[in-house]
Amino acid sequence: MSTILAVHASPRGDRSHSRRLAEVFLSAWQAANPQSHLTRREVGRALIPPVNEAFVAAAFYPEPDARPLSMQADLAFRDELVGELLGHDLLVISTPMHNFSVPSGLKAWIDQIVRLGLTFNHHWTMAWPNTSHWCRAKRL
Ligand SMILES: Cc1cc2nc3c(=O)[nH]c(=O)nc-3n(C[C@H](O)[C@H](O)[C@H](O)COP(=O)(O)O)c2cc1C
Repeated sequence: MSTILAVHASPRGDRSHSRRLAEVFLSAWQAANPQSHLTRREVGRALIPPVNEAFVAAAFYPEPDARPLSMQADLAFRDELVGELLGHDLLVISTPMHNFSVPSGLKAWIDQIVRLGLTFNHHWTMAWPNTSHWCRAKRL
């Protein structure tokens, strides 16, 4: 059984073109794969917390295994989002373009799920970061 995570990034609801387009795809996918399981993650009409000082302090705490409980709480939602992403085989992102970039909700989601050692890893060469994507197996 394949599992799909659909991330909707438009701040608009029924009027959203990107949302409607993605839903057409998702319906077709489910019709062709009746055993598939779909999860929707709303990032356009729900508040995804932006990176703040507490988040940075907790995320980059030098001893991750010994994080104080308060810091673990600061990262709880991030852990939920990362677990959700890693727990699905396919990722569908529907998004408009906002001012030559992605909407702020989608950027906030990306900031939450990019996690060194879990969703990506990198090692530095002299000239350029050599990035190996740990989420590479995911289909987008
Ligand atoms: C605040 C804002 C900024 C936008 N910036 C861009 C842009 O930089 N480039 C572009 O091609 N369209 C831009 N658009 C148009 C949207 O991408 C377009 O209307 C899209 O269909 C909206 O997606 P939605 O219908 O799913 O909400 C912008 C729209 C809004 C509301």
